[in-house]
Amino acid sequence: MTVEELLIYGKKHCHSDHAKFLLSDILGCNPLELLNYLNKEINEEKSNLYKAEIKALEEGNPIQYVTGKTNFYGYQFLVNKDVLIPRFETEQLVEKTIEYVNKYFDDKIDVIDLGCGSGAIGITLAKKLKNIDLTLLDISKQALNVSYRNALYQEVDASFIESDMFSNVKKKYDVIISNPPYIKEDEEIEDIVKNNEPSIALYGGKDGLCFYDKILKDIKDHMKTKCLVAFEIGATQGQDVYNLIQKYLPGAIVEVKKDLAGRDRMVFIFHNLEKNI
Ligand SMILES: C[S@@+](CC[C@H](N)C(=O)[O-])C[C@H]1O[C@@H](n2cnc3c(N)ncnc32)[C@H](O)[C@@H]1O
Repeated sequence: MTVEELLIYGKKHCHSDHAKFLLSDILGCNPLELLNYLNKEINEEKSNLYKAEIKALEEGNPIQYVTGKTNFYGYQFLVNKDVLIPRFETEQLVEKTIEYVNKYFDDKIDVIDLGCGSGAIGITLAKKLKNIDLTLLDISKQALNVSYRNALYQEVDASFIESDMFSNVKKKYDVIISNPPYIKEDEEIEDIVKNNEPSIALYGGKDGLCFYDKILKDIKDHMKTKCLVAFEIGATQGQDVYNLIQKYLPGAIVEVKKDLAGRDRMVFIFHNLEKNI
């Protein structure tokens, strides 16, 4: 079949942007470039792969799982159904963390990403900050497998720990970062998320807060004298997470920060670090 025939087929079955994106991904070109090759014959193997991907999309799979990759902070990450698809909001957590690390730390630092999933947070920090010793931790062996491959692909050195949050962790860290599961048990979420992404990566118990509690209850044992803690939170969880922090780290200097849409989305703890005003 030609590029044009495949595009017509694709557009019959899914959104035209997706049809173009999937074909250009298979052919290794930019979607716009397809227009230059409309009459080009595509071999049977690639044509069949395209049709299979269109079918997977029609069946309700997120496009990132169909292609097996996604973009995060300008880097390409492998994803599959064992890991959450990294979100745009999380890029803002990473961006702010990079800013604070540059402000508060000069020397090499130890960083741990709790619930690393694909490894997007920790690996991006390692790419951007260079001088870090990175540990990626997850309770899921399958997720750690994906994060291991992403670290290899991005040429980032990391240690990997399979653990229920801090339970198998011995060391202390300069930076502790986490985007834990935080959706409430009975919260309505989009079908495409509920039906495809791992529930272990989504739900944070009855009130969505159980993993903040789990992390904070043990955090003192894993913070170096100077330590930055960074959490992604759900848009309505700012006050609750603040209260949990005060319960386990009374008097801690805490900042709840909004995302670009003006919703509470990040919480930072500045432990023996001068607060950024
Ligand atoms: C919301 S996802 C975040 C994934 C990735 N950090 C990101 O931002 O795209 C939460 C991750 O926490 C992991 N997780 C769930 N329960 C955990 C636990 N008790 N201990 C460690 N990791 C856990 C899940 O497997 C999942 O990879």
